[in-house]
Amino acid sequence: MKVLILGGDGYLGWPTAMYFSARGHQVTVVDNYLRRNACTELDTGMLYPVPTLPRRAAIWEARTGHKIDVIIGDLCEPEFMRSLFEQPPEVVIHYAEQPSAPYSLMDYRHADQTITNNLRVTNNLMWAVRDLAPQTHIIKLGTMGEYGTPNIDIEEGWLDIEHKGRKDRFLFPRQAGSIYHTSKIMDTDLLWFGVRTWNLRVTDLMQGPVYGIETEESRLDERLRTLFNYDEIFGTILNRFIVQAVVGYPLTVYGKGGQTRGYLNIRDTLQCVYHSAMKPARPGELRIFNQVMETFSVNELAELTQSVGRELGYEVVIQPIDNPRKEAEEHYYNPQYQGLLDMGVKPHYLTPEVMREMFSVVESCRDNIREDVIFRGIRW
Ligand SMILES: NC(=O)c1ccc[n+]([C@@H]2O[C@H](COP(=O)([O-])OP(=O)(O)OC[C@H]3O[C@@H](n4cnc5c(N)ncnc54)[C@H](O)[C@@H]3O)[C@@H](O)[C@H]2O)c1
Repeated sequence: MKVLILGGDGYLGWPTAMYFSARGHQVTVVDNYLRRNACTELDTGMLYPVPTLPRRAAIWEARTGHKIDVIIGDLCEPEFMRSLFEQPPEVVIHYAEQPSAPYSLMDYRHADQTITNNLRVTNNLMWAVRDLAPQTHIIKLGTMGEYGTPNIDIEEGWLDIEHKGRKDRFLFPRQAGSIYHTSKIMDTDLLWFGVRTWNLRVTDLMQGPVYGIETEESRLDERLRTLFNYDEIFGTILNRFIVQAVVGYPLTVYGKGGQTRGYLNIRDTLQCVYHSAMKPARPGELRIFNQVMETFSVNELAELTQSVGRELGYEVVIQPIDNPRKEAEEHYYNPQYQGLLDMGVKPHYLTPEVMREMFSVVESCRDNIREDVIFRGIRW
């Protein structure tokens, strides 16, 4: 298959590129280094240095003989986006967004950048596919954060409603907790319009927070590891907790710690996207899956980090702090997530073994960890 990956330099984009490439697909990655530049601008630090995208593709080719094509450019430019569809791919995987909730709430400028960037990329993609490649299957990353924490079970994308004796099916109600998550809701709405109006074929993967570092492919060469942030802005929770545990920084549990979400290992992101690509949505179908493998509260993740950390000899302290976010700290949470399992995804659950492996990579980079960037308290 010809596979186009938008945001191919990112935490998920680069491992996805290697995963498809290793399985014999023809992969092109596109990125403008928005994420890396934001990390430099905000001085967030990274666990280890990551070679540029062309350099990583060259290392990958030298190690495996598989070529990954690299194109650097800003997908907010419509003509640049359209140029990617002159020879249409079978599938385009859309990761190219500003993905951080705290970033989107730092101030007006960062909120505006988030909305402008994310919606422009999605709109440009939708129109390029509509005009030049209507058969191309769009796989877009949504987020479980679009649903918020409703007091009812979260269905996979859709909800059947009976109202005054009549029935209809709607997108599951969404109520995001940040400007970033709101931009993801707007993305979904845009593509739902494109599906209804022009018969586009779209898979929307409502993903929970991802954790992990290594994938099967990155084990070939350390320089192929994906970028890893451990700061409050770009680090996801479990990745942050493990770094905090290794340097003896008290685990930053926000408020009561009852906030519950669905999580998945980075290896399962790759599987989910791959299975979705192999079995595409039909023309005129917006297919939605909830992309999580298990749920945990913040307290459960902190306790797990503490118990594995202590077993490895770290002094791990859990220290709840004033919650900088506006969110429910205790709530009902029951998402459904059967669709991807039915497609054949085999979950990697969060076991002590998986945690130990993450501890060991973080430990090997301990000298690079800067405690001053771990927490800065961006408030909602
Ligand atoms: N990582 C998670 O835990 C998680 C959870 C749920 C959803 N998601 C979604 O998955 C996707 C990927 O997330 P990630 O963690 O890999 O983020 P990331 O920031 O590491 O990757 C996104 C990549 O897209 C690039 N990009 C952004 N705007 C661009 C533009 N205008 N032109 C070209 N490139 C651009 C960035 O430079 C970056 O390399 C995002 O859409 C995010 O909303 C991620």
